[in-house]
Amino acid sequence: MIYPIVKYGNPVLETPAEAVTEFDTPELHKFLEDMFESMYAAKGVGLAAPQIGISRRIAVIDPSAGEDPAKRLVLINPEIVRVEGAQTEEEGCLSIPGFREPVKRGRRVTVRAQNARGETFEKTGEDLLARAFLHETDHLNGRLYISRISVLKRDLIRRKIRKRVKAGDWE
Ligand code: NI
Repeated sequence: MIYPIVKYGNPVLETPAEAVTEFDTPELHKFLEDMFESMYAAKGVGLAAPQIGISRRIAVIDPSAGEDPAKRLVLINPEIVRVEGAQTEEEGCLSIPGFREPVKRGRRVTVRAQNARGETFEKTGEDLLARAFLHETDHLNGRLYISRISVLKRDLIRRKIRKRVKAGDWE
């Protein structure tokens, strides 16, 4: 099932999500499949559950955008455990379509998370993957990338979005 992507302005995106406590259930496996399907349909490389209106600490990532099944990654209850170096690249978000801004992030990042069976693992990523770990974990903490850019740029984006809301071009 493909869920519609929730857009900026919906409070679920700025609410810390709830921890997952039940693993390896048919519901969880189905939900993860739906998350990948929804992410691919939206042409994203990462998706957090609040972005489809479900306030749970679950994110999926696929830097290959569906080209390589081995690149699929499920992060449940993720925590960032190490950040090294720095990179500044343009970042966007499926919940804030039409906008991209440079965001400074760590270049090499280690995340600790659980998989669908509840097993804890750590994974280190660099560059795009490091950025995805940080961006998606931020989502689960109710934080959007535009909170990491200048106030001036953020206000400009908010103004443009308000216009689009009025024009009926944002929902
Ligand atoms: Ni996002």
